[in-house]
Amino acid sequence: MNIVVLSGSPRKKDSLNVCKEIEARLGTENINYDYIFLKDYKIEDCRGCGLCFKKSERLCPCKDDLSLIREKLIAADGIVFATPVYAYQVPAPLKRIIDRMSFLFHRQELVGVPAIIVVTSDGGGHKQVSKYMKMTVTGWGCNLIDTINIISPMYFEDKKENSAWGYDEYYHNKMTTRIKKITDRFKEVIESEVRKIPSFYEIFMFNCLRSKTFTSQADYDFWNDKGWLESYYFYDTKLNPLKKIFGTILRALIELAGRRLKNKICQS
Ligand SMILES: Cc1cc2nc3c(=O)[nH]c(=O)nc-3n(C[C@H](O)[C@H](O)[C@H](O)COP(=O)(O)O)c2cc1C
Repeated sequence: MNIVVLSGSPRKKDSLNVCKEIEARLGTENINYDYIFLKDYKIEDCRGCGLCFKKSERLCPCKDDLSLIREKLIAADGIVFATPVYAYQVPAPLKRIIDRMSFLFHRQELVGVPAIIVVTSDGGGHKQVSKYMKMTVTGWGCNLIDTINIISPMYFEDKKENSAWGYDEYYHNKMTTRIKKITDRFKEVIESEVRKIPSFYEIFMFNCLRSKTFTSQADYDFWNDKGWLESYYFYDTKLNPLKKIFGTILRALIELAGRRLKNKICQS
């Protein structure tokens, strides 16, 4: 089993410590851990040419380590996305690769890969960052198991001296239990290889993502090859009738909105 930990922090501390707890829970038997510390990789800023969207990511003018990271993510059996909160967002190294891999929102290469998100903060902005990371990870097609939000000063005992909030044993124990529970579920899903039944949110995302095929031939061809243009989700799965109706209505509404927008553009 190949577990990739994608670490967005410029330092090896709080979020890494949480990942190490996940590693300790998963154990080492038949598991290989690949820690990607983004700070150690050369990643250029996106130049905004849009070639990846319009034609192919192979035409990206940046020559750096991005494809190495992308290959590692694709080869993963499970991914832990770990990030601190910086100014109510993810830090620059992580934002840079999310920007550069924006084509994954159009052409999903990580469909069904089980994922956990770890967010550490001093108590502000973790909701926004979790939401952003959830949207990113599900937008790339991953099977998001859950998000672990840690308020570092309350969780890590060594921060006792410096923090206004202070270490809280009850909080620490509660979060430790949560980390264990989510890690066990992560392992179970990876081992069972059973594909998850998508939630309403994931069906919503799938239908929104499909709308990109209206404007890009590259996206259309990719989705067509995968057989996703007509399907209810990225893969065959048992959906209850309510979810099927939800997906069908959503699809019809998005197509209608797309046609209206096209007409408006043509008329103006
Ligand atoms: C430049 C910078 C910006 C930060 N911005 C926030 C913030 O907006 N909200 C917050 O709660 N914590 C913020 N923090 C605190 C970190 O999120 C927190 O210490 C986190 O646990 C660090 O995790 P790490 O050790 O994995 O990098 C910031 C820290 C730095 C260095």
